[in-house]
Amino acid sequence: MSRILTGIQSSGRPHLGNILGAIKPAIDLSKQPGNESFLFIADLHSLTTIKDGDQRREFIRAVAATWLAFGLDTEKNTFWRQSRVAEHTELCWYLNCFTPFPMLNNATSFKEKSDKYSAVNAGLFVYPVLQAADILLYDAEIIPVGKDQRQHIEMTRDIASAFNHQYNDEVFVLPEARIDDRLMTIPGIDGQKMSKSYNNYIDLFLPENELWKVIKKIKSDSTPLEEPKNPDTDITFQLYSLLASDEQVAEMRRLYEGGNYGYGMAKKALYELILDRFATERERFNYYMHENPDALEAELQAGEEKARAVAKQTIQRVREKLGFN
Ligand code: ADP
Ligand code: TRP
Repeated sequence: MSRILTGIQSSGRPHLGNILGAIKPAIDLSKQPGNESFLFIADLHSLTTIKDGDQRREFIRAVAATWLAFGLDTEKNTFWRQSRVAEHTELCWYLNCFTPFPMLNNATSFKEKSDKYSAVNAGLFVYPVLQAADILLYDAEIIPVGKDQRQHIEMTRDIASAFNHQYNDEVFVLPEARIDDRLMTIPGIDGQKMSKSYNNYIDLFLPENELWKVIKKIKSDSTPLEEPKNPDTDITFQLYSLLASDEQVAEMRRLYEGGNYGYGMAKKALYELILDRFATERERFNYYMHENPDALEAELQAGEEKARAVAKQTIQRVREKLGFN
């Protein structure tokens, strides 16, 4: 049995890149028989950048609804909001006192963020310590994350080792990052990496007319309609290939290379494919977001209970070592 844990910041509505690059792979991993997954919404981490309460509520709900829409089994796994389990912040404080200042000061993500934001708050500085608390609280063994998070998992291991060493006991499990190099970077509608920060993303859950407006904006070259087109350099084709069956992709390639097939037609095909492929997910997202928000809340509250039960045991173990019990 492997214990897998990962957190997703609630810093926006998840887009196609987040879904194919992080959410779907984590759900697939959670379905493997030997695995038990702890998946949480890192809403405390989002406070380092987002201050508006209404916006936060909206993003938390949208992130939760996305995981449920994509079929996360909340009976088998544990799914919760970080902010509702106070042990995360409690452990974060304890760990702060075992974290060398230079380690945080040299962290790549902190350097990048402090260059990007004009006002740098202390939350950004101790961000990796809260992340270490998230992981160590649940004795997690495997942490599936993107490449940019490798250093944070290394820091978690360092902090846990320092603590274990101080008390000469295996208080914390040392986690390992799992970085799947096969996962590809999903391109945005302008061809750069799809990202909230570049405003080039596809939100799968938009109403049909708005979704079509976004798809229509996908960048293409100016090859005239009647001429053959190169599918391998075209963003619409790349996105289509990520979602279509092998036969559909082969047929689309034939259309591109045959001429008399315009980019507008390809975009229409992509739009229809999205509606078809994600019909169930769109419906379920809508159900949790709009038709029955109480069902969403009930799922999260049940998850919080399960998470808290595990977190309390770890905190007890830690308090004992520290002399706070
Ligand atoms: P964003 O760039 O939109 O702010 P985040 O940095 O919050 O996205 O990423 C959340 C998760 O989604 C991470 O695990 C990240 O690796 C994944 N992800 C984000 N954008 C993409 C993309 N374009 N392709 C693949 N995975 C992505
Ligand atoms: N920092 C992670 C990110 O931005 C989110 C996160 C918070 C996380 N706590 C975590 C990821 C614990 C893995 C484990 O993607």
